[in-house]
Amino acid sequence: MELLRVQNLKKGFGSTDVLKGVCFSLERGQVLAIIGSSGSGKTTLLRCLNFLETADEGEILVNGQVLRTVTEAQIRKNRLHFGLVFQNFNLFPQYTALENVTLAPTMLKRDAPEAIRARGLALLDKVGLSHKVNAYPYQLSGGQQQRVAIARAMALDPEVLCFDEPTSALDPELTGEVLRVIRSLKTGGNTMIVVTHEMEFAKSVADVVIYMSDGVIEEMGTPEEVFDCPRSHKTRAFLRGAQEPF
Ligand SMILES: Nc1ncnc2c1ncn2[C@@H]1O[C@H](COP(=O)(O)OP(=O)(O)O)[C@@H](O)[C@H]1O
Ligand SMILES: [Mg+2]
Repeated sequence: MELLRVQNLKKGFGSTDVLKGVCFSLERGQVLAIIGSSGSGKTTLLRCLNFLETADEGEILVNGQVLRTVTEAQIRKNRLHFGLVFQNFNLFPQYTALENVTLAPTMLKRDAPEAIRARGLALLDKVGLSHKVNAYPYQLSGGQQQRVAIARAMALDPEVLCFDEPTSALDPELTGEVLRVIRSLKTGGNTMIVVTHEMEFAKSVADVVIYMSDGVIEEMGTPEEVFDCPRSHKTRAFLRGAQEPF
């Protein structure tokens, strides 16, 4: 069943057109991987989906409903459909891991405090951090911080979890633990959009892959289609570059 549809999304900053008419759809439980060079508009797309930016044109539909952006109240409500995990974790440094996870549901009075706490503990358990619930961000490794950020992004039960290069700020030895958590969330049936440079991960976890170039979807297909027999010469050139050792 189609959960998300993005129609002709456009976004510019000043005279720069960043998204030039992006269209795709995603079924419930599917994982979409987005790959592409720096500057191609991947972060802007995720920020539009999370209503941190308002698109200039186009529509975002969840469960067939167009998400309206006329009032602040509509925008706040729209945000609840999506969770976002940032490249640099962005945890609140003054709060513990558990407080980071429970802050939003507490502010929104989603449930009784004890129920919110229990759910926060369950989410931290899910990302393998039961032993760190009272730790502050500075006491955690980058991989652990990112796993707290994943638990936090899930705290309001978003329908689509978005990841913006979740491992690119991590030392190589810490990427595995984060990618394992994302993989386990797919097994748990979560619908996800993952912007990533980890090609092997994208290939193995995604149902759909999009290659973005200069604000447009240059290529979209199954991992086999995009990685093994790309139609576009731009995709081929990008993938060749991505395979080159640094
Ligand atoms: N707030 C902004 N103001 C002006 N330009 C921006 C802003 N955000 C992004 N851009 C520009 O949009 C383009 C795409 O950026 P971004 O979405 O971050 O790409 P990616 O995530 O693929 O690297 C870049 O040229 C960037 O400089
Ligand atoms: Mg980016």
